[in-house]
Amino acid sequence: MRVVVLISGRGSNLEALLKHQVNYSVEHVISNNFDAKGIAIAKQHGVSNTCINWSDQAAAENTLIDVLQVHQAELIVLAGFMRILSKKVLNAFPNKIINIHPSLLPKYPGLNTHQKVIDNKDELHGATVHLVDDQLDHGRTLAQTSFTVDSANDVKMLANQLISKEHKLLTTVMSLIGSATLTWDQEHIYMHDKTISTPLRIN
Ligand code: GRF
Repeated sequence: MRVVVLISGRGSNLEALLKHQVNYSVEHVISNNFDAKGIAIAKQHGVSNTCINWSDQAAAENTLIDVLQVHQAELIVLAGFMRILSKKVLNAFPNKIINIHPSLLPKYPGLNTHQKVIDNKDELHGATVHLVDDQLDHGRTLAQTSFTVDSANDVKMLANQLISKEHKLLTTVMSLIGSATLTWDQEHIYMHDKTISTPLRIN
């Protein structure tokens, strides 16, 4: 399965994907941020990249679609990609774009998820991999990871705790997708050809 990863920054999820390529291969990396640390990670792994200036979203998305088509992307992974894609991109790659988000969606779309968990004294925190639609951090959920929050933990501690779980979540999901164990169509999500009604738990 040919995968293109979109990033905006650090690229630790990208790095995890690059290290665990089993049933998929990362063919190309795209960033809207020319200074993203993840670009260097792609280079270290011998993966080509394209940086796209996002100041004109329509032009940027036309370039994005071209680059994704050139690399024959079968799956597009948003791994810390900080832009919302328009319907034009979604329609060009229907049901082929997934995102990882650091919260137990539908709780806390958007930024500062760790702080929100602390403010609300949540018992659980986690991350979600979901299909992307045209709303922020929204779409059908494929899988989640979660852990019990230690009330003594601050934002930095929670973020550190979660990021390694994110890596496991994303690489596991990708391997399941790459082996066609986890599949979906317009209506349903399937594991081993059986419909699932709740997200996979990967802890
Ligand atoms: C991760 O927490 C991811 O869930 C979110 O942005 C962060 C990206 O981190 N969408 P990294 O760039 O993969 O290190």
